[in-house]
Amino acid sequence: MGEPIHPKSIVILDCGGQYAHLIARRVRQCGAYSEIRPAETHAHDLKDAAGIILSGGPQSVYDPESPQGDTGIFDLGIPILGICYGLQWMAQALGGEVRRGKVKEYGRTRIRKKALRIKSTKNLFQDCPEEFTVWMSHGDEAVNIPEGFSVIATSDVCANAAFADEKRKFFALQFHPEVTHTECGREILQRFVALCGAVPWSVEGFAQRIGEEIKAEVCDRSVFMLVSGGIDSTVAFTLLNRVLGPNRVRGLLVDTGLMRKGEIQQICEAFRMLGIENLHVEDASDEFFERLQNVYDPEEKRRIIGETFLSVQKRVCRAMGLSFDDQWMLGQGTIYPDTIETGGTKHAARIKTHHNRIETIQRMIDAGLVVEPLKELYKDEVRQLGEELGLPHELVWRHPFPGPGLGVRILCSLPDKTQEIPNANIDIPHAVLPIRSVGVQGDSRTYKYAIVLFSESKIPTDQHWNFATEIPNRCPEFNRVLFCLSHSRPTKFVFTPVCITRERTNLLQEADAIVDEEIRNAGLYEEIWQFPVVLLPLGRQSGQESIVLRPVHSTEAMTADAARIPGTILQRMVVRILSLSGIDTVFYDLTSKPPATIEWE
Ligand code: XMP
Repeated sequence: MGEPIHPKSIVILDCGGQYAHLIARRVRQCGAYSEIRPAETHAHDLKDAAGIILSGGPQSVYDPESPQGDTGIFDLGIPILGICYGLQWMAQALGGEVRRGKVKEYGRTRIRKKALRIKSTKNLFQDCPEEFTVWMSHGDEAVNIPEGFSVIATSDVCANAAFADEKRKFFALQFHPEVTHTECGREILQRFVALCGAVPWSVEGFAQRIGEEIKAEVCDRSVFMLVSGGIDSTVAFTLLNRVLGPNRVRGLLVDTGLMRKGEIQQICEAFRMLGIENLHVEDASDEFFERLQNVYDPEEKRRIIGETFLSVQKRVCRAMGLSFDDQWMLGQGTIYPDTIETGGTKHAARIKTHHNRIETIQRMIDAGLVVEPLKELYKDEVRQLGEELGLPHELVWRHPFPGPGLGVRILCSLPDKTQEIPNANIDIPHAVLPIRSVGVQGDSRTYKYAIVLFSESKIPTDQHWNFATEIPNRCPEFNRVLFCLSHSRPTKFVFTPVCITRERTNLLQEADAIVDEEIRNAGLYEEIWQFPVVLLPLGRQSGQESIVLRPVHSTEAMTADAARIPGTILQRMVVRILSLSGIDTVFYDLTSKPPATIEWE
């Protein structure tokens, strides 16, 4: 048995799809608390739920290895909604039949509502038109629906696109109401939530309740917190200060030297405006740059940054006389997806162990020494809470920034005699960069070369964007396609073997600050999900550096598309970046993820 569920919440049973978090967030946007549990959760543990949603999943319900729920959930007397795989599992579990469909339905599909014989108050499609577009993604289908159910919608390919037993409040949708491509998806989920009678939930209500919970958990102890500069720890630290008062909270911000230009001052200023002065800033930048000398491998860079961080933290804690026992607790800004990702369920594979859940921390959690006030919230909810607490809007809505900071955006390289730089047989002006970067294919990392396209206009056209998709498919030696924004003719690039230094970091900070200012001035900041600016140790001559602009649109960083920035803004950035001493070339990364990653490393 796991942690008990929140009474009267809506529980999403995770059948292994990538959509469980999205469903949970949408339910919260409909005003009900939602939580995610493994598909196999025992019905007894779900008896206090207001409703259950079975998520999508990649397997076939008739496959013996596939996720199978506890059929006891159908006797709990609470509303149940099955989505995609969830529909198929419900159909099979209740006596219907699921088979491989003749045609796969993938993408936008029109469905038609089926007229009901009796007018019902439990009609999920009440607020939808007679015919509407939905997002489908399935190969199997329910060919026979269970007894007691009626078909409520059909598509050209799928006769049983949605069906319901309204008496028992059981609903099944072959399409995904949680994705934005489904018209009326929000209305459908809203109707389901309304039928569940869940307790109302909102960030404002959470803020009122959590104060009492923190006080009860911390009792008369004090809390120490590492503040990274990221949004989660910033909001958690502010909340703890509000609830416990400044005398019982202490924070440490380690200045690694790898933060953005002015970032430390911006954070300290925001806290000062809220009257929070109990944050100690430790300038450890010399130590970081020293340990990064002669380090060229991307994984090694990460390891050293992580280790240096821990040793600085230990040293400062010792100097402060801190020990975690009956006087001090450790505060962390862990948020809901971090907990779920680390825990992993049988079907949603463990994605990564979050740094807030490493073994030593887990032992402290088990001993009751850790307080995590945001562990129930999603990122957008943390941001809302940050605004409620009075943190500045620009700080709260900043783009995500990697833990190791600019360390992952400053490329280092040594000559690699074992690797021959590949040629690309393409019929367009191009060059190959003599440096490799990280990418992703399937579930594996790649480490490959990038190709650069050129044009007289110095602005990418549709043809260049098409090449960005085609080239990695046709030439597997490349995982990235760049466009050269500063020169119009192909040229040879040479690289200089360098590691991370303070001077290179300062140069990248300047370029990054220019990009940040330009996209904010253009009103594009909140449209773009993340905008890494990367420093490459290469140029047309030895000793020169180049900059890559990497704006992306993404949901949750699992996949991403390169964002298209208007030419006038790109050219303004280029002129300003080229005026920085030492920068020779500016590139624009046109590649999606996969095959590239968002960062270059
Ligand atoms: P990639 O490059 O894998 O990045 O497409 C996906 C997202 O993760 C962020 N990222 C990190 N965040 N610590 C973090 O906290 C890290 O070591 C790290 N590496 C990548 C990256 O910025 C992007 O949002």
